[in-house]
Amino acid sequence: MTDRYAVVGNPIAHSKSPFIHARFAEQTGEDIHYEALLAPLDGFARTARAFFAEGGKGLNVTVPFKLEAYELVDHLGAWAERAGAVNTVALEPDGLLLGENTDGIGLERDLTANLQVRVAGRRLLVVGAGGAVRGILEPLLRCEPRELVIANRTVAKAELLRDLFADLGPVHACGFDALAGERFDLVVNGTSASLGGALPELPPGLFAPRSVAYDLFYAPRPTPFMRWALQQGATRAFDGLGMLVEQAAESFFIWRGVRPDTRPVIQALRAVIAADGAP
Ligand code: ATR
Repeated sequence: MTDRYAVVGNPIAHSKSPFIHARFAEQTGEDIHYEALLAPLDGFARTARAFFAEGGKGLNVTVPFKLEAYELVDHLGAWAERAGAVNTVALEPDGLLLGENTDGIGLERDLTANLQVRVAGRRLLVVGAGGAVRGILEPLLRCEPRELVIANRTVAKAELLRDLFADLGPVHACGFDALAGERFDLVVNGTSASLGGALPELPPGLFAPRSVAYDLFYAPRPTPFMRWALQQGATRAFDGLGMLVEQAAESFFIWRGVRPDTRPVIQALRAVIAADGAP
């Protein structure tokens, strides 16, 4: 029998998750159906419970419901516990709901396996201190950077994250002005500024020789942050499309116990997005 999965969010119409999971299912021969579910802003728990009551096997959860999903599940995986947010819910054989967060491992796989970016021993800057950043700090710190600096427009939020993750490695927090004169090997943009076509107001000169820029968001064309980073001397700049596919692959593995090959799906998704974004 075909097992049902879905991604829940609001808005949800533009989610690429149904496309990604359909490719994974074709590739692996897993008999699943994966759809997009719009939940009312005040109705996430109701929507999720109804989905499982009707036989659903697993959910991805996206904006703005990742914190509510954290509250909904019966128990948490270690990544979700640290991140304080859930993007993957799995129905277990005993009927309980497991919540996990695969965003961070998605970024780690994209950086280290797909893009061959070395994190160990390097100086990292993470810009932003919202939910997206909270989800990626643990995997980044487990890669053993020499230092990880969290810089945010609102310094107090960066300091809060520093305190939450300080046991995992050398983490520092600051505002944008304090970055003047500093240089980094990898700069990750986790602010939502890209979504509005804006740039965080970072000082110039942040990129060390052979440095890499990574935007957690993706777009048909290079994001403003990627363009700025290349102008500023970054050697390579990437968007978060690979991370999106990798986090989906980890969800698929949690649900099905099968690991899809992400490379052809990243290529296919890149083509779809380029076509969507064509003038
Ligand atoms: P998400 O869950 O997507 O991370 P969020 O929790 O609302 O969303 O966090 C958004 C992040 O983007 C925050 O770090 C925010 O900075 P503040 O904490 O100072 O608000 C950051 N951000 C959004 N727009 C920005 C801009 N134009 N310049 C700099 N930072 C911006």
